[in-house]
Amino acid sequence: MLRSVAVAALLAGATAAWADTIEEKAALCGACHGEKGLPEDPVTPIIWGQNAGYLYLEFRDFQKGTRKDYRMTPIAQYVVQQDALALAEYFAAKPWPSTGAPSAAKADKDAAMVAINSVVCTSCHLEQFQGDSSIPRLAGQERDYLAKTMTDFRTGARANNPGMSDLIHTVTPDQLIAIAAYLAGL
Ligand code: HEC
Ligand code: HEC
Repeated sequence: MLRSVAVAALLAGATAAWADTIEEKAALCGACHGEKGLPEDPVTPIIWGQNAGYLYLEFRDFQKGTRKDYRMTPIAQYVVQQDALALAEYFAAKPWPSTGAPSAAKADKDAAMVAINSVVCTSCHLEQFQGDSSIPRLAGQERDYLAKTMTDFRTGARANNPGMSDLIHTVTPDQLIAIAAYLAGL
């Protein structure tokens, strides 16, 4: 009797400890963001190897409700609320996965460069589009996600950074599609 109680307590303790680890919580994210860092659905962003400060800020924006998504909002607000910083550091330390996206065709690259040079996107996202701390890496990101999120900045569906929205307003919808193809292929 005593022995089985002890074993049950031990098991309960072990389960709680297991469920508490960041690895266990990060496994929840893998369902959408990819167990090996490559999302199955290309409108879901890569978070492996993304800059930690940026990951943290986005998580916080989903928690505050300034950025909204029917999948991310409940996860950030209810499931792993206390873990934003630890999860940001966990995913930032992973290697960026390759999507295998081809380099943009010349027409797309040319159209993209007109907008990129006129806005000087690289003044913030840096020369190779790797970003830094709270500025996101864009190089090699999922093309469909890039196109969607830039469109969201434009329409106001993504309103957590008015500065990015203002900048994207100076870019035409066609240029935006070309930019997504260009960045995805970097
Ligand atoms: C049910 C699917 C799903 C799950 C589970 C999920 N995410 Fe997401 N996540 C998404 C989608 C979809 C987006 C893009 C939302 C949008 O279009 O604005 C996103 C966006 C993000 C972003 C913003 C990335 C960027 O480039 O702006 C971060 C950070 C993030 N998720 C972290 C996490 C973490 C950490 C977990 C686990 C605790 C997690 N997600 C679990 C679907 C999911
Ligand atoms: C003044 C600095 C600045 C400039 C210039 C700038 N960005 Fe950004 N960009 C940011 C910041 C900061 C964010 C993060 C926004 C947030 O808080 O969610 C961002 C976010 C983005 C994202 C979302 C990434 C993700 O993972 O969701 C895309 C795409 C993007 N920028 C594209 C561009 C393009 C294309 C240009 C040029 C046309 C550009 N940016 C110019 C600062 C800048």
